[in-house]
Amino acid sequence: MGSDKNNYLTLEDVELKNKRVLLRIDVNSPMDPVSKRILDDSRFRSHVGTLKALRNSKTVLLAHQSRPGRKDFTTMEKHASKLSEILNREVKYIDDIFGKRAQKEINKMNNGDIIFLENIRFYSEEVLEREDEKQKETFLVKNLSPLFNYYINDAFAAAHRPHPSIVGFPQTLPSLAGKLMEKEIKTLESMIEDNGKTYFVLGGVKVKDSLKVMENLLERDEASKIFTTGVLSILFLDSKGIDIGKKNKEFLENEIEYQKQSKRAIELLEKYQDKIEIPEDVAINKEGEREDVSVEKIPDEYRIEDIGIETIVNYSEKLKDGQKIVMNGPAGVFEKDKFSIGTEELQRTTTESEAYSIIGGGHICTAAEECGLKNYFDHVSTGGGALMNFFSSDQLPALRLLEESKEMYS
Ligand code: 3PG
Repeated sequence: MGSDKNNYLTLEDVELKNKRVLLRIDVNSPMDPVSKRILDDSRFRSHVGTLKALRNSKTVLLAHQSRPGRKDFTTMEKHASKLSEILNREVKYIDDIFGKRAQKEINKMNNGDIIFLENIRFYSEEVLEREDEKQKETFLVKNLSPLFNYYINDAFAAAHRPHPSIVGFPQTLPSLAGKLMEKEIKTLESMIEDNGKTYFVLGGVKVKDSLKVMENLLERDEASKIFTTGVLSILFLDSKGIDIGKKNKEFLENEIEYQKQSKRAIELLEKYQDKIEIPEDVAINKEGEREDVSVEKIPDEYRIEDIGIETIVNYSEKLKDGQKIVMNGPAGVFEKDKFSIGTEELQRTTTESEAYSIIGGGHICTAAEECGLKNYFDHVSTGGGALMNFFSSDQLPALRLLEESKEMYS
């Protein structure tokens, strides 16, 4: 079993007809907090190729939506109907993950059936990051594995999470990379061979993740420069000793484990000041209106919601000579028109430059779609954190385990 062309197995390597397959996908999507409507279906569409290839199998889907404690942490019911609408096939939602009900439904499946199990993060052990051995011993993996012939991982966007649904099953089942996973990995691998100036534009709200990526990239000398935007840039302004105003300081203190992350940002600045770009002005939200102010004059009572115009011009100028530009996370609150300028303009500069341009992450891709720039990027990745970790860590846990599984089962 298995071809030698990859270090992992793919759908082409085995006969999947009549087989029962457990397929990990990532359809974690922005949702309307009230109606729970799915606001962007691009991650669903990205899995269509894999699902088509499984049309004669019994396919059970495993996925997550958000994380415990967040507003959009919810059931997969809407996800099942969205997928059914896109595939034009029945996708049966089961409000159970590995209990008796799920097992019964899985056991009575026919070829061509698709079942969508409940949000795997409803199971508390799923979000624990532990060594591979422990993840194999979870109830999730122990209960589901005996019901399947194969595990397929198509969840590139979650490939950096060493969670049971990612690293547990490849230890108990012959495992394959789905079509999306294969495409993402191949495209990204073909890019790391080129050694030109590589710029990273980091933003969004996942500050802890961004700092980890920055630490890795800078330590390994893999980034020529990192341009900070979004909440990350507010933290760096504060860490540089700039008075970011009371409201913004409160925001950092309440939202990002301030003491810990601030210490990391200060250490990065001490070591790599020349490689970290920080805004010189910001846009504050003054009763719904945008006002651009120098970082020396940030008032106490208004929140920063975008990078400022001077910063946009300055960053754009510097980005122009990059050979590769990787963007992750929006520069501001792009959902509000007046504060989408930073995100849009940096994307425009990137796509118009000579650089090989890569964008990844749910929100920044939604922004790129909205301003009509998405198709101009050389590679649009379904992953945000996964994309960044691909560049900044040794190997993504998902890929490492798919490779080990090939060795174990070939
Ligand atoms: C993502 O959207 O980046 C992935 O679905 C992973 O989600 P997480 O950051 O909550 O683990």
